[in-house]
Amino acid sequence: MEAMAPFHAEHFGNPSSIHWFGQRAEAAVENAREICAQALNCQPNEILFTSCGSESDNLALRGAALAARQHRNANHILISPVEHYAVSHTAKQLQDLFGFDVELLPVDRFGRISPQVALDHLRPDTALVSIIYANNEIGTVNPIQEISAICQSAGVIFHTDAVQAAAYIPLDLHRLNVHLLSLGAHKFYGPKGIGALFIRRGTNLYPTQTGGGQEFGLRAGTHNVPYIVGMAEALRLAQLDRESNSIKLSMLRDHLIGRVLEEIPGAYLTGHPHERLPNHASFVFDDIDGNTLLMHLDLAGFACSSGSACKTGSPEPSGVLTALGLPHSLALGSLRVTLGVQTTPAHIEALCNTLPDIIQSMRQRRS
Ligand SMILES: Cc1ncc(COP(=O)(O)O)c(C=O)c1O
Repeated sequence: MEAMAPFHAEHFGNPSSIHWFGQRAEAAVENAREICAQALNCQPNEILFTSCGSESDNLALRGAALAARQHRNANHILISPVEHYAVSHTAKQLQDLFGFDVELLPVDRFGRISPQVALDHLRPDTALVSIIYANNEIGTVNPIQEISAICQSAGVIFHTDAVQAAAYIPLDLHRLNVHLLSLGAHKFYGPKGIGALFIRRGTNLYPTQTGGGQEFGLRAGTHNVPYIVGMAEALRLAQLDRESNSIKLSMLRDHLIGRVLEEIPGAYLTGHPHERLPNHASFVFDDIDGNTLLMHLDLAGFACSSGSACKTGSPEPSGVLTALGLPHSLALGSLRVTLGVQTTPAHIEALCNTLPDIIQSMRQRRS
């Protein structure tokens, strides 16, 4: 908030303007780009500012797929069945409107993609591979370094959605070797409505938002200067505290997982037991409706999430949970608990003491 404040009022210039007022704003944007590049170990001109993680995913997929088709007639897109909608719906549109052949890689029961499986599915006409770094619903972390190495050697563009990963997993882009990586600021306590896309130098990409020449001609539109400044500062702070936060939160997460599995009959962990986000615990429960569970938890003061969307009255289980092989009824009883930097052992204790009673009374009411 402090870093952003001057750019809402005092320094209100437009970075695209020639005059000194604009130049000051431009300097702030370029300084933010350098801070992000330092945090991610890449070059400043490899960071492109967007409006959110979804936009970064859209630009990565649509921009890279259309460029690969134009330059080398590539027509095949590989994604996983556990991608965020920002990736899976974009891929679907590329299939439906542009005729791309979109293939889903199989995942194991933890929702992980094996590098060997990715290698086996590559084709000479593969335009792009996109695999989520850390899953938002089940917390599973994928072997991104290995998959990106395979794509690099095959000369195929590799994108990863690192929106969930950025706060807790070191993102050293020199080591990672991905071509494209998406970020959204609010996942590391930056402002909502700002994101970034890392584009490795030399990666062919078409702009999906055309107009002015901002952001290296790849993303037209006047910059949101305060939010760009705020995102850079939040990323810098997140890197400083990443290790200590991860250690603290993974201890609380493991305590929560242990107690839920021990004390609640018919409770199962979803996602990988170890290769998972340090702040993420997710479960499914026998004989429970996930959305009703969320309402009970909300009334008890706990803000949690579920995997199923119930907008029409006929709840559909999340595609991520069914991709793990979970039966429909079990997948409807999902719960996702994400811890934050303000979560204390007392909060976890309170949840561990409340959840079994809520589950028990919900089951009693059903029977
Ligand atoms: C894995 C993942 N990708 C993409 C997004 C979309 O990011 P945004 O909300 O910044 O558009 C989210 C948001 O929760 C996410 O969890």
